[in-house]
Amino acid sequence: MKRVALLGAGFIASVHMEAWRRIEGVEVCAFFEIHPEKASLFREKYAIPHYESFGELLRQENVDIVDVCLPTFLHREYTEMAANAGKHVFCEKPIALKEADALAMHETCRRNGVQFMVGHVLRFWGEYVRTKTLLEEGVIGKPLAVEAFRLSVSPAWSVDSWILKPELSGGAVIDLHIHDCDYVNWLLGVPQEISARGVRSVRQSWDHVFTTVRYQNGVVASLQGGWMMQGDFPFTCGYRILGETGVLEWTFRAGVNIEERALANPIIVYRQGKSREEITVAGEDPYYSELRYFFDCVEHHRAIEHGTPEQALLALRTVIAAQQSLEQNGAMVTL
Ligand SMILES: NC(=O)c1ccc[n+]([C@@H]2O[C@H](COP(=O)([O-])OP(=O)(O)OC[C@H]3O[C@@H](n4cnc5c(N)ncnc54)[C@H](O)[C@@H]3O)[C@@H](O)[C@H]2O)c1
Repeated sequence: MKRVALLGAGFIASVHMEAWRRIEGVEVCAFFEIHPEKASLFREKYAIPHYESFGELLRQENVDIVDVCLPTFLHREYTEMAANAGKHVFCEKPIALKEADALAMHETCRRNGVQFMVGHVLRFWGEYVRTKTLLEEGVIGKPLAVEAFRLSVSPAWSVDSWILKPELSGGAVIDLHIHDCDYVNWLLGVPQEISARGVRSVRQSWDHVFTTVRYQNGVVASLQGGWMMQGDFPFTCGYRILGETGVLEWTFRAGVNIEERALANPIIVYRQGKSREEITVAGEDPYYSELRYFFDCVEHHRAIEHGTPEQALLALRTVIAAQQSLEQNGAMVTL
């Protein structure tokens, strides 16, 4: 039995809590939360011990795994506290706001000999995973160009609106856009040149952006991300991949956020000389899949291959480069 301490009782912590409860061999033994209302809702629902201090939680509870679901500006502090206490760490994306913080987290986990994974959930999301496999199988030939997008209304749920403060969350370019940057890095490798143009919201953060990435293998990607949509605009994400002999396309639209992620839309395959084909991917909750994978790696002392700190760092460097380009009127930034 592995004992998990959950840090935070906000939006993503609730998603993780539901996932952990489905994993055999795991017990969420306690949670840390500073917001009284969030804490009492969580306590009522799950009846597990609550701590207002993570240090106290570590002193009182016998913990194997720490799951960091706190605002991004706190990721480094709590990851390092957990690692220095000898706990394995799962941390939500983005790994951190600055490269130096991400490097320090990685080094602290390495030094303490604990497993460290970052929640780049698209690496576990049915349609995204299947698309990677389809490309590897050569279903549309060599990829030539990739488009990916992720759009939503402004996130309104975060405590004290931390997510809308660029100094705490990085804004949409760091927080939201990073999903697609990491995914396309997974498909295409290491970005070489990055340029971006975008729109600043009233909060002065880059909250609606278009990024062009040229990869070392010459393939180009055009990525769009933002949370400035208005009214009832549904959470929308997807991709279009042009290959030498075909096209893959997938679009997902549902809910306000990702709460309706179980609604499946097929991947559409268009190929030379063939009629269009639809591939429906039987959906497991990707947050369950990523935590289950992490647990298995910890349990069986296996090296983590998906959501590694190196991948998380590359994704962070990609969005930081996009931000630098945005600040310089779309100038080309080399990674
Ligand atoms: N992988 C994904 O799809 C995904 C989705 C949403 C959020 N996230 C990430 O998860 C992390 C948490 O985001 P969220 O949407 O759950 O946020 P949230 O505001 O809903 O939850 C954060 C929780 O941390 C608590 N907290 C503890 N200490 C705090 C402090 N000192 N200051 C402020 N809050 C404190 C807050 O009270 C709150 O309950 C972020 O890094 C975010 O980028 C990932």
